[in-house]
Amino acid sequence: MSAGLHRIGRVDDVPLLEGRSVTVAGRRVAVFRTPHGFHAIDGTCPHLGGPLADGLVADRCVTCPLHGWRFDLRTGAERGGHAGVTVHEVVERDGALWLRLAPDDALRQAA
Ligand code: FES
Repeated sequence: MSAGLHRIGRVDDVPLLEGRSVTVAGRRVAVFRTPHGFHAIDGTCPHLGGPLADGLVADRCVTCPLHGWRFDLRTGAERGGHAGVTVHEVVERDGALWLRLAPDDALRQAA
């Protein structure tokens, strides 16, 4: 395993335009597959804790299933100007998916 990478499953575990929830080092992360590749963001909505992995995916964004906040999967920004979420790195290698949690600095900035 490369430094900081955690194996989270196989590529086929995440269908196109869907999300899956994984827990890495005690942190809940939502992993998504889009036509442009895989993305990972914090799995808990900063509004009232909605499960972002269950949100609708379109235009490289996910919409929280509870109240509709919409997060850009590339930046973690909330499209309506609300608090965003932290983005994590997903690496695809030999049919497997690996995740590297954002550094602590990125986690603090997103808070
Ligand atoms: S909990 Fe996500 S928008 Fe309210």
